[in-house]
Amino acid sequence: MNKSDGCRCIATELYGAKPSSVVVTTPIYYINGAPHIGHAYASIAADVIARFHRLDGSKVHLSTGTDEHGIKVARSAETIPMDVQKFADQMSDKFREMNRAINLSEDDFIRTTENRHRESAQALWKLLEKDIYKDTYSGWYSARDEEYVAAEDVVDGNAPSGAPVEWMEEESYFFRLSAYQDRLLDYYDKHPDFIAPPSRRNEVINFVKNGLRDFSISRNKFDWGVPVPDSNDHVMYVWIDALANYITSLGFPHNREYVSEMMANCIHVVGKEILRFHAVYWPAFLMSAGISVPKRVFAHGWWVSEGQKMSKSIGNVVDPFEIIEKCGIDSLRYFLLREIRFGEDGDFSNDAFQRRISYDLANDLGNLVQRVLVFIQKLDGRLSVNYDFSSEEQILFVHARGLWDSLRQLMEKQDLHGALCCIWDLVSESNKFINDMRPWELARTDVRRLNAVLTTLCESIRAIAFGLAPFMPGTARKIFDFMNVEGKSFRELSINFSDVRFDPPAPLFPRER
Ligand code: MSP
Repeated sequence: MNKSDGCRCIATELYGAKPSSVVVTTPIYYINGAPHIGHAYASIAADVIARFHRLDGSKVHLSTGTDEHGIKVARSAETIPMDVQKFADQMSDKFREMNRAINLSEDDFIRTTENRHRESAQALWKLLEKDIYKDTYSGWYSARDEEYVAAEDVVDGNAPSGAPVEWMEEESYFFRLSAYQDRLLDYYDKHPDFIAPPSRRNEVINFVKNGLRDFSISRNKFDWGVPVPDSNDHVMYVWIDALANYITSLGFPHNREYVSEMMANCIHVVGKEILRFHAVYWPAFLMSAGISVPKRVFAHGWWVSEGQKMSKSIGNVVDPFEIIEKCGIDSLRYFLLREIRFGEDGDFSNDAFQRRISYDLANDLGNLVQRVLVFIQKLDGRLSVNYDFSSEEQILFVHARGLWDSLRQLMEKQDLHGALCCIWDLVSESNKFINDMRPWELARTDVRRLNAVLTTLCESIRAIAFGLAPFMPGTARKIFDFMNVEGKSFRELSINFSDVRFDPPAPLFPRER
């Protein structure tokens, strides 16, 4: 490695500016119950994707919010009993609280009871009118799933999800979904990455190939919803209202061109059970309205708790607030995204969680940072300029400098788990490098070599912290603070470690709280 490209690497040069727009969305949450780990998971994943793209130089819009209409919410308020709007206000606040607790970097929090959303949902309806007709609906409805259920799918009075169904017979508006079958199939064919992970794609294609039926998009025996335009007695079906949130957040119905352009750069993070709404109904609505279809719908899996489906009656619902209070948000963010591949189902077990915290975080990462910074304290908190790098050091440099590019490739596919594994490869390599280089001996025998070794390790830790920033923003910030680069953004961070005054480190992951 020569002097000019020695350890003076400038993040902006390395990582390159990539000024594009990315929209990332979380589902909007039903407010009939308190936020739990499943909600936190969807939002944390979306947050990581958003933060990654922001750090990568894109202009990002991350939206989240609450889905407040529908029978389920109205009934929850009734059973208290409480005015439904007041109930919605209270419950929606709990999700805002969750967002603060999980360190969500949202740009917009949208409530479907807001005026801007009513205006947007109604404007969307108007654009769909050519595909809307009135008829009578009679069939089964699952209030818990807020979903119509085909007669052949009802078993013992329950929907496939296990939720009870009720018979409904009412006048209703219908959306001509059947007319979109071929266009949707053509779209999936031309955009093979629209549905992710790839394993979910066939599931959706088969569903569409089996034939799409027109479906009911209004209710008239019930009024907790967005009124259908020009109708006195119908409110919109909660899903058409809910899906519209994504364009409301972009400013719809104003500035339609911009909204359409942004939708084309949109990544929806959704749970697997609501993939069909996002990958079939939603694109059909957008096609009908002349708005671009999103770039990607990523369906994540479901968490169970200690091997069992979470349920209030079993008492095994994982409360994100409790875990965050006890172990810190970054530990939770790490566990959720590292324990399973993004897209697969997972088991939230206390043992597995503790194992990740103590092995991966405290031992691997925490000790790496601690060891290096403690050594630097032995040099009075300063490294001297030293460009005399051995081949081992150069190998680690190359790995460290390539990290962001590798992460970028993985994050293009929303492979959040792969990205964390990739960061941990560098953590392991750096720990191995310490063991091989034996800095404790160099401290006695060769201070010049010691400086080169520690400089290399600082470069590696810097790359690790930069890569970690979307996943564990607080931890990344702590590492940068130890390195005394407070006030500089990660992207601006220009490294000449001989200018840096290192502070004595505190443990990154204190074991007890
Ligand atoms: N309101 C609809 C979404 C409308 S989006 C236009 C809804 N809300 S929900 O509150 O029921 O679920 C929101 C998200 O939480 C879903 O993506 C769902 O997959 C996720 N999770 C709820 N429980 C979960 C787990 N146990 N594990 C992982 N995620 C799960 O559906």
